[in-house]
Amino acid sequence: MKKIEAIIRPEKLERVSDALIEGGHHAMTVTEVRGRGAQKGIALQFRGKEIIVDLIPKVKIEMVVEDKDVEAIISIIKNKAHTGKNGDGKIFTYNVDSCTSVRN
Ligand SMILES: Nc1ncnc2c1ncn2[C@@H]1O[C@H](COP(=O)(O)OP(=O)(O)OP(=O)(O)O)[C@@H](O)[C@H]1O
Ligand SMILES: [Mg+2]
Repeated sequence: MKKIEAIIRPEKLERVSDALIEGGHHAMTVTEVRGRGAQKGIALQFRGKEIIVDLIPKVKIEMVVEDKDVEAIISIIKNKAHTGKNGDGKIFTYNVDSCTSVRN
C-alpha cells in the first residue's frame, strides 16, 4: 500500500475529486491547508501597496491505495489540477505499513 498526498489549488478540488470517482478511486481525506513552495509565497498589489502573502491556501488530498493504482491516481490528479503556472502543487507518495478498519 502507498499513501498519496497531493497539495493542490482549492479551486481544482472538485474537478480532481470527480475524476478520481470516475476512475473508481473513492476513498480520500481532504484538508484545507496553507503552504509555500519554491517562490516563498506571492506578492500582491492591494490599494497601491505590495503585500506579501507568505502562506497560500491550498487543499491537501490524502489517499491510501494499492500499489497498482498509484500511477493512475497521480496521473488523474496531475491532469486535473494542472494550470501550468507556479503554485499548481505537489504530489508525494509514502509506503504504508498497515490499515485497520474500525468497524470490523
Ligand atoms: N517541499 C515541500 N514540502 C512540503 N510542502 C510543499 C513542498 N513544496 C510544495 N509544498 C506544498 O505545495 C504547495 C504548492 O507548491 P508549489 O506548487 O508552489 O511548489 P513549487 O515547488 O514552488 O512549484 P512551482 O515552481 O510550480 O510553483 C505549497 O503551498 C506547499 O503547501
Ligand atoms: Mg511555487
